[in-house]
Amino acid sequence: MNLYERIPNNVNLSEDKKLQRALEKWLPNYLDWWQEMGPDGFQEKGVYLRTAISVEPDGWANFDFVKMPDYRWGIFLKPAEPDAKIGFGDYYGQPAYQEVPGEFRNSLRRIIVTQGDTEPASVEQQRELGKTCPSLYDLRNLFQVNVEEGRHLWAMVYLLQRYFGRDGRDEADALLERRSGNPDKPRILEAFNQPCDDWLNFFCFTMFTDRDGKYQLSALAESGFEPLARTCQFMLTEEAHHMFVGDTGLNRVVKRTAQLMKEGDVRELGGIPLDIIQKHINFWFSYSLDLFGGEISSNSADFFAAGLKGRYKEQEQYQDHIVAEQNFTMKVVEDGQLKDREVAMRNALNEVLRTEYVRDCEKGLARWNKSLADEGISERLFLPSSRFHRHLGEYAGHHFDIEGNLISAEEFERRKAEWLPTMADREYVRSLMHPVVEPGKIANWIAPPATGIKGKPFEFEYVRL
Ligand SMILES: [Fe+2]
Ligand SMILES: [Fe+2]
Repeated sequence: MNLYERIPNNVNLSEDKKLQRALEKWLPNYLDWWQEMGPDGFQEKGVYLRTAISVEPDGWANFDFVKMPDYRWGIFLKPAEPDAKIGFGDYYGQPAYQEVPGEFRNSLRRIIVTQGDTEPASVEQQRELGKTCPSLYDLRNLFQVNVEEGRHLWAMVYLLQRYFGRDGRDEADALLERRSGNPDKPRILEAFNQPCDDWLNFFCFTMFTDRDGKYQLSALAESGFEPLARTCQFMLTEEAHHMFVGDTGLNRVVKRTAQLMKEGDVRELGGIPLDIIQKHINFWFSYSLDLFGGEISSNSADFFAAGLKGRYKEQEQYQDHIVAEQNFTMKVVEDGQLKDREVAMRNALNEVLRTEYVRDCEKGLARWNKSLADEGISERLFLPSSRFHRHLGEYAGHHFDIEGNLISAEEFERRKAEWLPTMADREYVRSLMHPVVEPGKIANWIAPPATGIKGKPFEFEYVRL
C-alpha cells in the first residue's frame, strides 16, 4: 500500500520524510491502542462508515463497509487562505503564524495536548457500549463517532509531530499512554474520566460533551497559528454528526418515554422515566461546563492576547478584536453570598464561550420539549443553572441547588438524589440495556430514528455481525 493509501492527507506527507518517519513510528502504537481500548468485540465486523479521503465536497464523506482497524485515519487541513492574518488580540492584523512562535510554544502545546487528549479518552469511555446497542443503526453511529475521534487524535498528533519536534513526539506518545478513568494515569479533563457505560450516558455525552468540543474547536479554528486553525475547521465538519447522534438520541428516548407515559407506569413498561433523563442531563451538562475552564482566567486572557485562541465566530460576530477596554459582569461567591463582579473581558473569555455553549444546549432542550408536547405530555425538561454541581472555577467548593441558589453542603447532600443520578438510577438504566441487533428492530426504551444514514432506511444492515 502506498503512503497516501495508508494515511490519506493533504499535507504533502510524501515530501516530508522526517514527519513521515515519526508518523510511521506512531502508527503501530496507535493501532495497538485501538485494539486494546477501541470498541470491544467488533473489530472484525463490516461497518457502514463515512471516511474522509479528501477535503473536497465529494471526498470528505465517503460511505462504504469498512472494518474499523482498516479505517483510513487521514490528516486533513482546510485549504490555506492566501495571506491569512491573526484575527484578534495584541498581534491583530499581523501575518498568521505558520510555525510555532517561540514565546508561545508552551501555551500552544498545552492547548493542542489538552484537546488531543479528549479524543482517545472518549473512545475509551465508549468501549463497551457496542455490546448493548439499541439497534444496528445506533451501533453504526457509535462506531462512526469512535473512528472520527480516532482521526481527531491523528489531527492533533500531526500538529505535535510536525511543529513541536522532540517534545511534540513525546506528547504524541503520552496521548496513547493515559487512560480514561485510570487513577494512576488519567485523562487530563475530568469529564473524560467519567464512566459512559450505558446508552443514556452516551447520548448525553455526545450531546453535551462533544458540544463542548464544538466550541473549543470553533475558538481554535480562529487561531492565529494557521495549521491549528485549518485543522480545527476540518474537524468541525465531522463533529456535527457526533452532536446529531446525542441530540437526536436523547430526543428519541424522550419521545419513547412520553409514549409510555400515556400507556401507564414507565418503569413497569420498561422505559426510562423522565426524572432519570433529567438527572443525566444535570450530570453531563455540569461536567461539560467545567471543560470551559474557570470563569475568571488569566490563561484565557493570555491565549487571546497571543492570538492563539479566539472567541466563537470571532470574525463573524465581533467588530472589536482587541478587547482591551471592555468589561464583563458575572456572579461570584463573596462572604457566603452571590455578588456581581466586574472583570476585564479578556479574563472572562471562558465564560463568554460557555455562555454561547449554554445557548446552543438550550436549543436541544427546546427540541426535546417539543417532542413531549407533540405526544401530549405537559412535563418539561430543562438545563440546570450553570452554577450547579461545578468542580472547577468560581462555583467549585460551594453548593447550589438546581436553580443556582447558594445552599449549604448539608442541604446539597440531602437533596442531591433529586438532582443527580443515584446508584439505583444507574443500575435501573443499565438493566434496560440489552443488545438489539436484528435489522429494523429497536430496543423498547427508545424510538426509532426519523431517517436512516445516507438515504438508507432504518432497516438497513448498518453493521454486518
Ligand atoms: Fe473529536
Ligand atoms: Fe466528537
